[in-house]
Amino acid sequence: MTRRKMVAGNWKMHKTLAESVDLAGRVAEGLKDADLDVLVAPTALALAAVGTRLAGSMVLLAAQNIFWEEQGAYTGEVSAPLVRAAGASHVIIGHSERRQYFGESEKTAGLRVAAALAGGLVPILCVGETLAERQKDQTQGVLESQLAGALAGLAANDLGGLILAYEPVWAIGTGVNASAQQANEAHAFIRAWLDYRFDKEVANGTRILYGGSVKPANAAGLLNQSEVDGALVGGASLNAADFLGIIQAV
Ligand code: PGA
Repeated sequence: MTRRKMVAGNWKMHKTLAESVDLAGRVAEGLKDADLDVLVAPTALALAAVGTRLAGSMVLLAAQNIFWEEQGAYTGEVSAPLVRAAGASHVIIGHSERRQYFGESEKTAGLRVAAALAGGLVPILCVGETLAERQKDQTQGVLESQLAGALAGLAANDLGGLILAYEPVWAIGTGVNASAQQANEAHAFIRAWLDYRFDKEVANGTRILYGGSVKPANAAGLLNQSEVDGALVGGASLNAADFLGIIQAV
């Protein structure tokens, strides 16, 4: 099965509304007939305006997070129906920064995955080990418990096009990317786990992106690996030329 590649940009807490619309426009206009999926995830504040700017382009739109309730007295939160109404088709869930700074756990990531699926959004679930965990040879155990927790209770036909992102925490925003071999090994482990937990079709069909210091200069080496189906890009997605450079390397 050939899996369509994806390059996704996570803009994190960067860019004003005007800057977001400008960057989205540059990305959309810079893409020739790219034969892959391209996605951007602006702040919640810029989602609707970026969605309007991207209308008619091939660029997909994601939220960076959602709360699991649909609506109610949850000050400061946004829900799946709200981000969908703003134009998003995808949502990033369980990013390590959410785990590190905002108390995200396997359980809360699972609640968000379920809410995304119920709300018609494709979840992009992030998993990855810290440096200490890698050094203690715990990478596979960490990946397994993050995956098992966040996908608990789901069957193969519930997954709604689920996308996974392997993001070793030690590689995020550090300038130190995983080697192509380290990434491929981790992705192969995740794929084997999908086969064990669901079935062959899920294992072969699920896209697994690599994230962590992806730049135009290292993108080709990482993305040419057999198990790497694309990239989730932070810092380098904030500059249209760099982001387009990564897309061209696919
Ligand atoms: P980075 O971030 O590309 O800046 O390392 C990746 C991510 O957090 O998704």
